[in-house]
Amino acid sequence: VDLHITFEGRRDLSGQIYRQIRAAILDGRLRGEQALPPTRELARRLEVSRNTVSVAYDRLMADGFLTGRVGAGTFVSHGLHPYQPESPPPAAGPLQPRAVWADIPEPPDLATEPAYDFRAGTPDARLFPYQTWRRLMTHELRPSAVRTGMPGAPAGHSDLRAAIARHIGVSRAVRATPDDVLVTNGIQQAIDMIARVLVEPGTCVAVENPGYPPVRRLFESLNARVVGVPVDADGLVVDAIPAEARMVYVTPSHQFPLGTAMSLSRRIALVAWAHRCGGVVIEDDYDSEFRYGGRPIEPLQNLDHTGRVLYVGSFSKTMLPTLRLGFLVAPPSLRRPLRVARFVSDWHTALPSQAALARFIDDGTLARHLRKMRNEYRVRHERIAEILERDFGAWLDLVPSAAGLHLSAYSKDRTAGEIVDLVAAAAADGVVVYALSQFTREETERPGIMLGYGAIALGDIDEGLRRLRRCFLASSVR
Ligand SMILES: Cc1ncc(COP(=O)(O)O)c(C=O)c1O
Repeated sequence: VDLHITFEGRRDLSGQIYRQIRAAILDGRLRGEQALPPTRELARRLEVSRNTVSVAYDRLMADGFLTGRVGAGTFVSHGLHPYQPESPPPAAGPLQPRAVWADIPEPPDLATEPAYDFRAGTPDARLFPYQTWRRLMTHELRPSAVRTGMPGAPAGHSDLRAAIARHIGVSRAVRATPDDVLVTNGIQQAIDMIARVLVEPGTCVAVENPGYPPVRRLFESLNARVVGVPVDADGLVVDAIPAEARMVYVTPSHQFPLGTAMSLSRRIALVAWAHRCGGVVIEDDYDSEFRYGGRPIEPLQNLDHTGRVLYVGSFSKTMLPTLRLGFLVAPPSLRRPLRVARFVSDWHTALPSQAALARFIDDGTLARHLRKMRNEYRVRHERIAEILERDFGAWLDLVPSAAGLHLSAYSKDRTAGEIVDLVAAAAADGVVVYALSQFTREETERPGIMLGYGAIALGDIDEGLRRLRRCFLASSVR
């Protein structure tokens, strides 16, 4: 390690080294088994005699903090656990964040894997074509590909922007030239960029209710005034958008969390709203690559001819969410501010993965992977829908859906609170599903549950739902 020692004066230099290394071990900055610099090297860097350092090391060894191995060097002793003094209460301290951060919860702990994993938003990482991706990434990490190592363009790698424009043009009928595409670290960042460019403090932003919480919270964190708009079987109720709204965020292909598709007449009404009110629509098309039936409906972006719809997409579901790869398609008037916003924010998405993704799309691997995954998810979707209709008919009404990685069902007889209790009981039995109320702002929405099937293997679905049914049965006996 590059050990940092600060001398206060020139007295007792050995003692100062001793105390600072000891403190670093006790508070966990130096960990068990970590190697310390050789005495000669540390002495040279600190401009002290070698003996000064040796005395400090010897004392630390005598105290048991360090061990020396002949020929190998000096190490922090094995099994030393840092002493953690009680941390001060979070409210204390001179620096306080803006009030809005107190209301935004920390991200959920996704590290633990439940036995029956119906979590939404994750694809099946077991089926990812790792070998191909590794080969493409390895290629991009060769000196000839990295070249000077200078940062790239904020809008993204030109091959990738062209590949994305072609891909969404063919598969989703989104009208885009490579210049309209800006590569981002996922949809969440795409919306952050759009909000930085268009949302002023106090701007009224309408979001679906129920809806996708992270995006709503993003707008709140930027001091927008966020209002929920109800969603029915045709999608967002356009007539209920408040008059003061200037921006609407929607998931028209596959509503999050209900799973319905926005009808064509609603889409036309929403585009007309934007035109009439001078508004902006953000179309979040996060998982519509997985469509199991019906004809895909025109994207809002294609229905709009006035440049008022921004389309955002992601490779989080089609590939892996950990890659953090997504994009936005913007009208020409916003290209420059979006590029500049990206530059001042974090410059650009990692170049090797952008270049690898361009080739992943261009050589047809993405399309092949999508075909395979679509078949896989279709079977899971059908299996869950079949069991919910067969075994949960007394309690749940399935919401019709034909796309994506999750589906929802309204409760026939439970309150929102009872569903939350039931979901907690299921979690205790190893089955993770969601209460729809987790995605609503107001308590008045219809209670229900949502189940994802990106992560759960087909073979685990029956047992997971059998356990969930047991929770419904147990909670019926009241
Ligand atoms: C509705 C919706 N939008 C956006 C995202 C986030 O996508 P990304 O990982 O690209 O930020 C998700 C992820 O679960 C989602 O469900």
